Amino acid sequence: MASVQVYDNPEFLAEKTAIMLKEISDKTISENGKINIALSGGSTPKELFRVVNKNFLNEFNWSGINIYWADERCVSPENPESNYGEAERILLRNIPYAENIHRIKGENNPEAESKRYSSILRQNLPEENKLPVFDLILLGLGEDGHTASIFPDSIQIINSDKICEVTLHPDSQQKRITVTGNVINNALKIIFLVTGKSKAQVLKELIENTEQSRNYPASYIQNKKGNLIWMLDKDAASLLKM
Ligand code: 6PG
Repeated sequence: MASVQVYDNPEFLAEKTAIMLKEISDKTISENGKINIALSGGSTPKELFRVVNKNFLNEFNWSGINIYWADERCVSPENPESNYGEAERILLRNIPYAENIHRIKGENNPEAESKRYSSILRQNLPEENKLPVFDLILLGLGEDGHTASIFPDSIQIINSDKICEVTLHPDSQQKRITVTGNVINNALKIIFLVTGKSKAQVLKELIENTEQSRNYPASYIQNKKGNLIWMLDKDAASLLKM
């Protein structure tokens, strides 16, 4: 069952999300010796990275935290569009365990990198339902209901039997590499981090499970383990009947 938490503003939301991530990672590391987390990109998580860098850098047991990506733009890390590049510039460069950072190489040939990253996930992560299992996936939400880089016009990738696929951003035609919906739903825990009024309508439709929401890839993210948490700021949640 999904749970919804709403906080006054993006900064406070980031603070609370950082605390939640610390609790989840500490518990998972104490049980399994490590945690495998997949990050998403875009602008929303940058506030979280800034808050972790500023207030939690010494709070996390980084030696046990393996960081992967749910998706990446097919650009080099130096490009400000790069999900890894931005996370590295804001936070990861201050974490002394570079070997725990498993980026998607956006500068590589997309099809070849999609295959390479799929084998990295298959090698490094436990498997269930013949797919890798992340302990936690942090997702964002597009105004068109996309998540990771699964867009409405590539909604069939939700049910792909592959681990990663190459998609195209519908507006920019930028190539992306994304984990598939079945990999996302195979995770032990999923957190959607969503802020801003621009996401209020799509969020309302998703949470109310409207007919329209069936066109949104995010509506098919139903964590098999039942652990799906919507972490929202007030603006994003402004149309929800709470
Ligand atoms: C990406 C993300 C994507 C993002 C949403 C929301 O690579 O862009 O994985 O799914 O989470 O597009 O993006 P914003 O946070 O910029 O609104």
